[in-house]
Amino acid sequence: MRQILVTSALPYANGHIHIGHLVEYLQTDIWVRFQKLRGHRCVYICADDTHGTAIMIRAQQEGREEEAVIAEMKEAHERDFAGFDIDFTHYGSTNSPENREICHLIWKALRGADMVVEREIEQLYDVEKETFLADRFVRGACPRCKSPDQPGDNCGNCGATFSPADLIDPVSTLSGTKPEIRRATHLFVQIEKLHGFLDEWTQSGTLPTESANYLKGYFLHEPLRDWDISRPGPYFGFEIPDSPGNFWYVWYDAPIGYIGSTKAWCDARGENYEDWWRDPETEIHHFIGKDIQYFHTLFWPAMLKTAGYNLPRFVHIHGFLTVDGEKMSKSRGTFIRASKYLEHLDPAYLRYYYASKLNSRVEDLDLNLDEFVSRVNSDLVGKVVNLASRTAKFVERTGLSATYPNDGGLFAEFAAQGDAIAASYEAGDFHKATRAIIELAEKANPYIEASAPWELRRDPEKAGQLQDVCTIGLNLFRQLAIYLSPVLPRLAHQCGELLNAPLESWADSKTPLTGTPVAKFQHMLQRVDPTKVEAIIVESREEAPVASAPPAGPAFDDGDQPLKDEPLADEITIDDFGKIDLRVARVVAADEVPEARKLVRLTLSLGGDERRTVFAGIKAAYEPADLVGRLVVMVANLAPRKMKFGVSEGMVVAAGPGGENIFLLAPDSGARPGQRVH
Ligand code: 2FM
Ligand code: ZN
Repeated sequence: MRQILVTSALPYANGHIHIGHLVEYLQTDIWVRFQKLRGHRCVYICADDTHGTAIMIRAQQEGREEEAVIAEMKEAHERDFAGFDIDFTHYGSTNSPENREICHLIWKALRGADMVVEREIEQLYDVEKETFLADRFVRGACPRCKSPDQPGDNCGNCGATFSPADLIDPVSTLSGTKPEIRRATHLFVQIEKLHGFLDEWTQSGTLPTESANYLKGYFLHEPLRDWDISRPGPYFGFEIPDSPGNFWYVWYDAPIGYIGSTKAWCDARGENYEDWWRDPETEIHHFIGKDIQYFHTLFWPAMLKTAGYNLPRFVHIHGFLTVDGEKMSKSRGTFIRASKYLEHLDPAYLRYYYASKLNSRVEDLDLNLDEFVSRVNSDLVGKVVNLASRTAKFVERTGLSATYPNDGGLFAEFAAQGDAIAASYEAGDFHKATRAIIELAEKANPYIEASAPWELRRDPEKAGQLQDVCTIGLNLFRQLAIYLSPVLPRLAHQCGELLNAPLESWADSKTPLTGTPVAKFQHMLQRVDPTKVEAIIVESREEAPVASAPPAGPAFDDGDQPLKDEPLADEITIDDFGKIDLRVARVVAADEVPEARKLVRLTLSLGGDERRTVFAGIKAAYEPADLVGRLVVMVANLAPRKMKFGVSEGMVVAAGPGGENIFLLAPDSGARPGQRVH
């Protein structure tokens, strides 16, 4: 028996759970249920991620204590998760005494390893609100291109990166006042000291290949930068014991929450959390999204290593959710809260649909609403539940046959597939697992069709034959219900009730059930009603904040503001223009730069093997995932520029003042990467 500890990323306490989050929690829950069914000891630990500026500001705005805000949100999160049958062993909070204790322990280890240094940095301070300002709470003009209303870390217009103190005419978004520059001491963790270890660990089969390569290519080929781990108060978090007035940055205590939450659970049951976090026999598995891999694959293992905790055996990394091919959008009604979904639809549908799309690669997952309806209806209702609904009622009185009849080898064939299906689950390839299961269902249905129990029942002399056919149909159904039970726990439960034999282990699929009574058949799963899907979209749209309607006016009244904001530049000659080599390029990868929230790192293809890395300040306007595959126009002969995060080898051209108002230029279809733009 393996001992496995599994986590999902801890959701922030400043927002509700939506269908995007659910990809990960359902993925994890399915994997955990699978491990338990296989007879392993597997615990699923999670918690709310409660600290940081966002919660503090929200509490201030609502005139409440932070504790009240996070308690309310925790209740809502747990309700939503329970509604989707996500079965945590323990759901804690990072704002707990246990978490504080582990934060202290790890801190002591980091200090002991001489990995913490202090440095003074300049930061903007809001005098009215008496707080230092995080980058996103200050705006001003770009020090380079002078574009107005830019955030504190980089310019959405020209892509320059800077520190908030460099902004021209900065304004605090908290108070609207002009902040002043104050020096503050920050604490930094020198993870470069573990470069060798991280090099080895990240490349040792602990991560999906794409992620391992990405880390090697982008971060590990140069010295790792010191990690700014502290924030001066006021800050909602834990105060650093040996640095009064400074608090740990939320990303320090968030992953430690995995251990803190385990400890809270263990303490309550008289167990020792170290059996999970220090015993090398325990396998730690994290499930996270690709946006937070930097934290989980560099900082986190460095902290664990330094403090002598178990390192993750594997970090499972998934992509983002799109709905009908686009990122979730409030105005389109596709930003769907978990609670809204549950008002209208059975959670089993989404569990099954996501499972059918998830594999072990770091790929985005598209929820196509038409496919959602048709796949659930066709696979689950039409092929699986069908087997029970067409047979159970005929054996309500007699129960199953006393010996298992000759089924032409179907049961044995289904049993033989068990290992391959299990291997797919183990590898996180739920797509492959569900595909294999549905292929089996496709073999069971023709048998029922050909045996036609509904006709056999008309002839009393065929009662024995009828019982045999139904015994076979129900046993095949039961095998499928076992294989599907990590995904569809309610269906597995219903199957157990129907056949008076609970499904408890994967091995139950190997032996047919005989001679047991059969309960009265109850409806198991309704078909998905497309009007309910539509209702969810309509209501989500209605509940979204209303965008103000554009003023009515003649067509093409484009106004003159842009030209007023930015008058035309000095005249140039055609030769001047010719110096700028503009090229069509295809975005082949787009990644967030974890430490610069406004930057996206684009890998551009100019055709063939020609690749360029460009850092673009377009994060506020575009989801990186949406950019992959599209054509853009780049300045290809710009001198490479060394930025904080790497070298930028050009620029993509875009219109608009910046922030969310950036519009990338794209050639009409037909253009090819590498073509010059004249
Ligand atoms: O990105 C997020 O939503 C974070 N709250 C995840 C934290 S995961 C872990 F480190 F706690
Ligand atoms: Zn700029």
